[in-house]
Amino acid sequence: MSEEHLWWQKGVVYQIYPRSFADSNGDGVGDLPGITGKLEYVASLGVDAVWLSPIFPSPMADFGYDVSDYMDIHPMFGTLEDFDSLVEKAHSLGLKVLLDYVPNHTSDEHEWFVESRSSRDNPKREWYIWRDAAPDGGFPNNWLSEFGGAAWAWDEATGQYYYRAYHEKQPDLNWRNPEVREAMMDVLRFWMNRGVDGFRVDAVNHLVEDESFRDDPPNPEWREGDAPYLSRIPVHTSNLPETHAEVAGMRRTLDAHGEAHGGERLLIGEVYLSGDELMAYYGEANAGFHMPTNMELVRAAWDARKISAYIESYEAALPEGAWPNWVVGNHDNGRIASRVGVGQARVAAMLLLTLRGTPTIYYGDEIGMTDGDIPPELERDPVAKSSPGFGRDPERTPMQWSEGENGGFSTAEPWLPVPDGNFATVESQEKDSRSMLALYRNLLALRRSEDALSVGSYAPFEVRDDLLAFVREHGGRRFLVALNFGDGSVDLGTPFGGRIVLSTHLDREGEDVSGSVSLRANEGIVVEAGG
Ligand code: NOJ
Repeated sequence: MSEEHLWWQKGVVYQIYPRSFADSNGDGVGDLPGITGKLEYVASLGVDAVWLSPIFPSPMADFGYDVSDYMDIHPMFGTLEDFDSLVEKAHSLGLKVLLDYVPNHTSDEHEWFVESRSSRDNPKREWYIWRDAAPDGGFPNNWLSEFGGAAWAWDEATGQYYYRAYHEKQPDLNWRNPEVREAMMDVLRFWMNRGVDGFRVDAVNHLVEDESFRDDPPNPEWREGDAPYLSRIPVHTSNLPETHAEVAGMRRTLDAHGEAHGGERLLIGEVYLSGDELMAYYGEANAGFHMPTNMELVRAAWDARKISAYIESYEAALPEGAWPNWVVGNHDNGRIASRVGVGQARVAAMLLLTLRGTPTIYYGDEIGMTDGDIPPELERDPVAKSSPGFGRDPERTPMQWSEGENGGFSTAEPWLPVPDGNFATVESQEKDSRSMLALYRNLLALRRSEDALSVGSYAPFEVRDDLLAFVREHGGRRFLVALNFGDGSVDLGTPFGGRIVLSTHLDREGEDVSGSVSLRANEGIVVEAGG
């Protein structure tokens, strides 16, 4: 890697779930003008880009991941003009805008699918994946849906099944068909022409399926209580080798646009894999995703040794020139403050924002939002119904702006409830110089001012019990990051001389350290070498 780094390599991404960020028109659901009105807040955090989960027309069977028109805005979110204003405002604040791109499936209400299902000889029939029933009338094979049950949905009118990796209202596109590929490249061009700086590509592992439709083998490790989808090993439905050519095609479309219009466009891929399988998504000669998401901190046991070992194996596995990235939360997984506790969420924030590579922050994590408590009658996520216990509503609750009505999110009853009583809010944390919000702002400011923390080298320093310590270095600047993963105190055994520039408790800055340093329960510190 040269000394020159691109904006997204030094930058930090902030994910917004548009339904839940800010409601400007009082219908209980967030919208684009709502987001635009909060961009000053987002910029004040010190992040560099916003990624918006889907904002396109959609029947909302999967809350926007079922797109019925890729080139418009859902009226509930606003208009194309609202979108242009959002982009303009973001750019004026120095924020890039990334969109969710959902290539694996459309909504069943997309006109392509409406045509495809209209007859067996419709020209768009082969845009989706249609199969005859098995001789006994059953499913064509044993493929399962991520959302539970068989991955095949019956179409009465034309007497065939269509394949859907997710909801039955999300039929899979057939990426083996060049017409599909070209139509989907047009989608990327459409948004880039409107000023979009990049994309997060949804569900890319499902893009291509086995051409001969072989059964997936059973998973011997599956146990009662695990998600039903995991009962098969999806060797014929997920992560097929052909996928990489499709990703490279998306990247070529972005690069061509970047060359013609100035400025590289960023391609991030949603990938829940590890090791070589994950690294393959950087593509041959890094011509695939700029960053396939590194999801380990979303699912890892919160254990200093295990996480340290993972960081080292991830760093070691990165292909030459490939850029790392880190995620601790998103709209599909329980919030970090609920997974590890509010105290450890501070340690997680320091880890996320001091590791080498590009971090993504999930909205609300910067104030320590926890998973919402959603009573069954208020559950909205289809997964909550098809795979009980695995619903994703808890991590999608409205942003908690203030103690006012509905957390300051909306004047109407929000689509998902905000907590009652005492809860974290931006308003209260703005007034508290030791709040989680203050910690995020301090971490982001430090990271921005010290290249060592974003692009510098990573070297493990000491790992023992609940202690994880590593050193970041760049251009002669050297920092120790020491994190206590436990709720008792822990001492750093290896001497490191310097001055504390940040503690997760926000009360130790300026303290000189040499020899042993003690970390309090749930404390992380950043120490500048030399002092
Ligand atoms: C991954 C998205 O993040 C998730 O929310 C969605 O349900 C599936 N892909 C299907 O699009």
